[in-house]
Amino acid sequence: QGVFTYDPGFTSTASCKSAITYIDGEKGQLLYRGYPIEQLAEQSSFLEVSYLLMYGELPSRETLEGFKQSILYHTMLNESLLRFFNGFHYDAHPMAMMTGVVGSLSAFYHDQNAMRDPEQRDVFAHRIIAKMPTIAAAAYKHSIGQPFMYPQNHLGYCSNLLHMFFSVPAEAYSPDPVAAEALDLLFILHADHEQNASTSTVRLAGSTGTNPYAAIAAGVTALWGPAHGGANEAVLDMLNEIGDVKNIPKYLEKAKDRNDPFRLMGFGHRVYKNYDPRAKIIREMCHKVLKRLGKENDPLLELAMELEHIALNDDYFVEKKLYPNVDFYSGIIYKALGIPVSMFTVMFAIARTVGWTAHWLEMIGDPAMRIGRPRQLYVGETQRDYVPLDRRK
Ligand code: CMC
Repeated sequence: QGVFTYDPGFTSTASCKSAITYIDGEKGQLLYRGYPIEQLAEQSSFLEVSYLLMYGELPSRETLEGFKQSILYHTMLNESLLRFFNGFHYDAHPMAMMTGVVGSLSAFYHDQNAMRDPEQRDVFAHRIIAKMPTIAAAAYKHSIGQPFMYPQNHLGYCSNLLHMFFSVPAEAYSPDPVAAEALDLLFILHADHEQNASTSTVRLAGSTGTNPYAAIAAGVTALWGPAHGGANEAVLDMLNEIGDVKNIPKYLEKAKDRNDPFRLMGFGHRVYKNYDPRAKIIREMCHKVLKRLGKENDPLLELAMELEHIALNDDYFVEKKLYPNVDFYSGIIYKALGIPVSMFTVMFAIARTVGWTAHWLEMIGDPAMRIGRPRQLYVGETQRDYVPLDRRK
């Protein structure tokens, strides 16, 4: 037995070296490859950010064009894979379908050599980024009993997603550019966040040399929980449950009560202790998007703003440094875009796939990579002798 550091929740353990994303929780700073999130949110696009996160530098115009073409080339799903959806019950949670179907990509694309072959690594990376919206849309269409819509590659990444979600064969539909732009921005903000639970899961699974699609499916599973990506769905459920501004004090008391499991969803963060810079951008964007979509009077937005205001002036939340996180306002925007609540975490998964992939690429390219294998502090019985069944009390 060696001497191990006990660090539940890994609050002070660096599990790897990484050059992808930098967070300063005290300053509320987030950088992707050195570029501030605020600048990327304002000037970049999701696919450009994807390239940056994976390859480390902003692409030239020509490189970006080539990258986009490669992503478009891979948007289709194998028809047999589409048939998987028919096996799911109509009320299956979309994240449940995602965990299964994303993992099943490993049965179609045996990119095992991706571990060693850089060309195959790129094919895997482009494939998974391209196919996530198609899988997500198929999960949605299955849940509402509509036919799947094939991707249309003349559309951009987010417009294509909206098309696959909302087109029906009987009617012409053109994706709203305002909605596509809002989605693109949300995806930039969600693309990576260093060693969060799902990314660490992808790294741990990937460190065993498993098929990379299977490692990404592990990330989808970890993201689903309400303490992580599931929070955006939980925020909407919570706002609906609170229902009215007059009920806020009652729910704040519940959140403060240690004996009550209720927490203010969309509040608090393991790393950010002053504010979450993504929440600041999303908050502003939420007002703009709702206005442009003519939905600025959404009572949920009013309720969210009032809840935020009251909580930020409450001693409990101030003392514990609990601020709105990225998920507090994202759900309100998704709702305004017509995305159903059960799909919110799926949206997060589409964006975070880029971060998972970037970390997987970084990990397998690292000569210091070893299988992830945490130790434990054993607190059970010391050695004792087996007691046969007829002699037990
Ligand atoms: N409402 C009420 N109390 C809270 C909340 C909250 N949302 N978050 C933390 N606390 C309290 C908690 O009870 C604890 O109190 P005490 O010191 O008396 O035991 C203290 O604040 C510290 O909380 P913690 O759970 O030890 O902190 P953590 O770093 O382990 O957890 C968190 C971080 C994000 C899981 C947590 O703040 C939380 O559950 N928030 C609500 C869920 C949520 O919004 N998650 C999304 C996170 S951001 C996006 C993402 O990661 O996907």
